[in-house]
Amino acid sequence: MIDAISFNDSTLRYLDQRYLPLREEYVSTRNYQEAIEAIKTLAVRGAPLIGVAAAYTIILGINSFKGTKEEFPAFFTSLVAEVEASRPTAVNLFFAAARMKKVYAENFANDSLEALFAKMNAAALKIHDDEIANCDAMSRLGVDQIKIDLAHILKTRKLNVLTHCNTGTLACCGTGSALGVIRLAWQEGLIERVITSESRPLLQGLRLTAWELQQDGIPFVSISDSSSAFLMQRGMIDFGIVGADRIAANGDTANKIGTCAHAISAYHHNLPFYIAAPVSTIDITIPDGTHIPIEERSADELRTIFGTQVATPTTPVLNYAFDVTPGKFLRGIITDKKAVVGNYITELAALMEE
Ligand code: MRU
Repeated sequence: MIDAISFNDSTLRYLDQRYLPLREEYVSTRNYQEAIEAIKTLAVRGAPLIGVAAAYTIILGINSFKGTKEEFPAFFTSLVAEVEASRPTAVNLFFAAARMKKVYAENFANDSLEALFAKMNAAALKIHDDEIANCDAMSRLGVDQIKIDLAHILKTRKLNVLTHCNTGTLACCGTGSALGVIRLAWQEGLIERVITSESRPLLQGLRLTAWELQQDGIPFVSISDSSSAFLMQRGMIDFGIVGADRIAANGDTANKIGTCAHAISAYHHNLPFYIAAPVSTIDITIPDGTHIPIEERSADELRTIFGTQVATPTTPVLNYAFDVTPGKFLRGIITDKKAVVGNYITELAALMEE
């Protein structure tokens, strides 16, 4: 199993995803600023993993604190703000930071700094463990939903599934969100072939999802991002499933740029298209997708391909890292607690109440 991230002996260790699949390079650090840089540069990436990395980064930060108890609140506030500023869209980052802030708020007054840090350390490890467990829960619920929705096809043959970006162990720590569902569906004999779209500009689908599927021996084929409509037209895709970076209260979902085009195309072709994401990806404070902050990344990510210039350095570029798929194009949102099919406003609110 891929070890995307771990934290032992006050040291953060992660697999640097920028070089995969050509180079497997693990990085160890005790420096919280280096960890923030790893999140910003996508050395660690994928919404749940960003949340876990953020929690560990806060631990690295507090471990570097040398001041008095009176000086700690100001240090902690600025540390958390720095971590929160690393990437704007994946709400898991803010969810993890909020869990760490809660431990701080509940214990600071009565604990020594040493006791407080021990509790925060335990909270970070728990966030990590929770994300691993979430993958198993989502996978089961997702496969059960697919068996219901696609029973008519499964009577005669296996399914061809489209996925976008990377939602596997590299993104989620456990078996994955969307890729976790696909893995379990494959184990249960439901999958003929996985179709992974490349996910320009950083190619998480072509580089990372393909690498994970290869390791599992699951049959797959990679396509360019613009191919999915054509494949659907030809009957080569039966359903789609992707992850999410932030889900608004009405089910509108931010995910890797290109997701919305796949979903609209699936809707047009009457094919179910699912989101698989843990409850930590739901932002119930946001009524709809127009309020989701969308990260805009450097123009050079598009003007170059892995260091090679492919457009003039002055070519104007729009490089949004995510888009928002309106809930109406989704067949369902598979969370770790429940497969929510329709009526997102009521159902997602009820999930968050729990
Ligand atoms: O920019 P990235 O690689 O962090 O984007 C990742 C995605 O868009 C994933 O699909 C999403 O985080 C879900 S991961 C389970």
